[in-house]
Amino acid sequence: MKKSERPHVLMMSEITADGKLTLKRGASSKILMKYMAPETEILLHRTRAECDAIMVGSNTIKIDNSYLTVRKVKGRNPLRVIPSSRGDIPLDANVLKPDAPTLIAVSKRASRERREALSRSGAIVLEMGEEEVDLPSLMKALKERYGVERMMVEGGPTLNWFMLKHCLIDEIRLIHLPFIVGGEDTPSLVGGMHIEHEDEMIRLQLKKFYLCGTNLVTEYDVLYHSDI
Ligand SMILES: NC(=O)c1ccc[n+]([C@@H]2O[C@H](COP(=O)([O-])OP(=O)(O)OC[C@H]3O[C@@H](n4cnc5c(N)ncnc54)[C@H](OP(=O)(O)O)[C@@H]3O)[C@@H](O)[C@H]2O)c1
Repeated sequence: MKKSERPHVLMMSEITADGKLTLKRGASSKILMKYMAPETEILLHRTRAECDAIMVGSNTIKIDNSYLTVRKVKGRNPLRVIPSSRGDIPLDANVLKPDAPTLIAVSKRASRERREALSRSGAIVLEMGEEEVDLPSLMKALKERYGVERMMVEGGPTLNWFMLKHCLIDEIRLIHLPFIVGGEDTPSLVGGMHIEHEDEMIRLQLKKFYLCGTNLVTEYDVLYHSDI
């Protein structure tokens, strides 16, 4: 897919010194986020306000019950986009509250009852794909039908992996938290499968690093093979 056919996408995450996104598997990232400097929270919310859409995976909604709204700065709430094959996010999830528009991308696996229940709660329900949600088609639709020019992805690791695998991430911004949490199965920035060969490594180009309050922030461009 040509870059011009989809939104420009920034992946943004809070990450420990050992590359983890939470305290342990199944734990909410909100526990770690409490330790972000106030200036960094503002950066996160300002970034949300600069985007037309914000995407997180369905498991992050189930574990973190995120709102995904702009609260620490003045600004417009982005469209909240959640890929969820079966559409089985809780109907009382904060992301379905009417603070901002929400689009749930489902696949053919989602039952009619589920789709209707999500629609009744005010969400836009969009079918994309047979088994998993077809992310490239979703990105195309977000640009063409919903006017999304700039989108941010706030995890979790499974969604991050599939977005990178489909070459759908343009930039990465990391908020480094000065902690080590350990744990072999603690979610890290990118999940998914391992790679077999160094040729498959996704290359990044560091473009900026700075202190935001007490947090180091790093920014990278993602270089895909077609760019090198
Ligand atoms: N520190 C941070 O910045 C941060 C940010 C966000 C999340 N987190 C943490 O990350 C953890 C959750 O991450 P996770 O990896 O388990 O889940 P996730 O990435 O949030 O969600 C993955 C789920 O999305 C659904 N999905 C549908 N279509 C997909 C597709 N094409 N590609 C990928 N996913 C698709 C799948 O569920 P279905 O089969 O149900 O469709 C999949 O299991 C939580 O502990 C959360 O606290 C941390």
